[in-house]
Amino acid sequence: MSEKPEYSKGLAGVIANESCLSDVMGQEGILRYLGYNIQDLVEKCSFEEVLYLLHRRKLPTQSQLETFTKALRAHRHLPQGVIDFIQSAPKDAAPMDVLRTGVSMLGLYDTRGEDQNREINEDRAIAICATTPLIVAHFHRARQGLDLMPVRDDLSEAGHFLYLINGAAPGAEATRTLDAAYILHADHGMNASTFSARVTVATLSDMYSAITSAIGTLKGPLHGGANEGVIHMLQEIGSLDKVDAYVEDCLAKKKKIMGIGHRVYRVLDPRAPYLRKMAAKLTEELGESKWLDMSERIAELMRERKGLNANVDFYSATVYYSLGIPTDLFTPIFAISRAAGWTAQVLEQLDDNRLYRPLTLYTGPTEDQPITPIAERG
Ligand SMILES: CC(C)(COP(=O)(O)OP(=O)(O)OC[C@H]1O[C@@H](n2cnc3c(N)ncnc32)[C@H](O)[C@@H]1OP(=O)(O)O)[C@@H](O)C(=O)NCCC(=O)NCCS
Repeated sequence: MSEKPEYSKGLAGVIANESCLSDVMGQEGILRYLGYNIQDLVEKCSFEEVLYLLHRRKLPTQSQLETFTKALRAHRHLPQGVIDFIQSAPKDAAPMDVLRTGVSMLGLYDTRGEDQNREINEDRAIAICATTPLIVAHFHRARQGLDLMPVRDDLSEAGHFLYLINGAAPGAEATRTLDAAYILHADHGMNASTFSARVTVATLSDMYSAITSAIGTLKGPLHGGANEGVIHMLQEIGSLDKVDAYVEDCLAKKKKIMGIGHRVYRVLDPRAPYLRKMAAKLTEELGESKWLDMSERIAELMRERKGLNANVDFYSATVYYSLGIPTDLFTPIFAISRAAGWTAQVLEQLDDNRLYRPLTLYTGPTEDQPITPIAERG
């Protein structure tokens, strides 16, 4: 390499691979999966159809969807070792940490070992999508000292998750709301967690290791953890009249407001308006508009003061909160939906693999340093 490569902190603006899965159009505020606008997908398709779309790269026919859904539901079981782990994990463990360890453990029970054949990996991809909700929901029951709910095969992915955490089948409205949130979170270009999944599998490691990396990456407050941060922030602020002072204080102290800003979108995150609409409907039904009113004021101030917009996490937090979901399950729910994209991206990475190996701009000493004997070091 003769020319010195350009340095881009955090790889901003760097294209590191090719993908046909999701097109994140940051300047226009458009998001498409395989060419389908998410606004259309969320209104006309189920999460299962979107999962099929990401895994098989086309929308399913009715019979393809039925076969796919059957295969997905057939994977609704966990090895006893993973159930034992869930039941013995500390009750105050973070659900994201339990999910990360649970998915890692799934690899131990895959009897196909290191076989990375595509067909087997496709089956692993479906199994991971079917089992991540079980790990999260079973842990949520176990930590409350409740019995784990027996799995059912007559409920959709979204409906089944709500049934597993609440112990009763959900209403159609709640199921549809979570289903829509799953669709909106399913894939999103080369975000940090997807990137870590692809980096991991590109070493020809394995699917479970890749998804474990992705879960650990999603957990951070600058990524998936932001949705939990939004609720904590709203609780800390407490009431609408305190929003202005809170935002001004954060700006003065250069403290990040959770759920605001995006590395790629320079206009409104296209996932935010739909979630906002759902949040407005749910809070109105609950007769509790406080959280949404506060959110709207924060979004307005941040637009005015910094030219920054709300992102996907800003309103999804209020949606999940209004569905009665505990705050520490918000990021795991993000992981459940993003498992669709992670697994599809891992399959795509393996189809045309190349190891990721960027460079670093070295800033240390550039000459050999003398080694002082240990007893004489200051
Ligand atoms: C998403 C995020 C990490 C993107 O970071 P980034 O690409 O480095 O951010 P930008 O380059 O757009 O930041 C531009 C400016 O806005 C500020 N800014 C960005 N997001 C901000 C936020 N949420 N609150 C306050 N200020 C913010 C930056 O500090 C920077 O200010 P400066 O020019 O005075 O230094 C960042 O916006 C963030 O931390 N948001 C909150 C966490 C979140 O919601 N994450 C979920 C993303 S989907």
